[in-house]
Amino acid sequence: MNAKLTWIKDRCPYWLAAAVLATGLAAVAAPVRAGDTTAAHQLERFNAQAGTAGQAERGRVFFTSRHGGEWSCASCHGNPPTSAGKHASTGKSIEALAPAFNPQAFTDTAKVDKWFRRNCKDVAQRECTPTEKADVLAYLLSLMR
Ligand code: HEC
Repeated sequence: MNAKLTWIKDRCPYWLAAAVLATGLAAVAAPVRAGDTTAAHQLERFNAQAGTAGQAERGRVFFTSRHGGEWSCASCHGNPPTSAGKHASTGKSIEALAPAFNPQAFTDTAKVDKWFRRNCKDVAQRECTPTEKADVLAYLLSLMR
């Protein structure tokens, strides 16, 4: 084996180890970040899925009404959802849902999707449509300090 190849062979494992370590550190650091998105980007995403722009007034009506079940969205998130809400069955405090009152709201795509799915099933016994999500978020973004 020539000298150059031996040099690469000797050192490669270290580079590999360094790369794996760097990737691992990045993965460990990731959850510490605030999130992967913004409320405005989430609204764009739902608008695109719905093929139409969310309407705040329609969102307000959806959010504050019951849909065949015991609860509305407002039962847990408050009406208007501009301060901490209270879980309708456990009584646990819930951070304000309107982004102007809670900078963490709608900053994590996975969390947004998870809770929309879960809460819509609780309230409407089905998933919300993209239009309903766009309407609700347009309403939440219209709530200002
Ligand atoms: C039974 C109580 C309850 C009801 C009813 C409810 N939610 Fe929630 N919701 C929660 C809880 C608890 C969380 C998680 C809060 C947290 O972790 O900060 C949450 C979180 C969310 C989030 C994620 C917010 C974020 O930080 O990104 C969205 C979106 C949401 N709810 C929408 C709705 C909508 C729309 C409705 C009505 C269809 C609704 N919720 C009804 C309890 C409820």
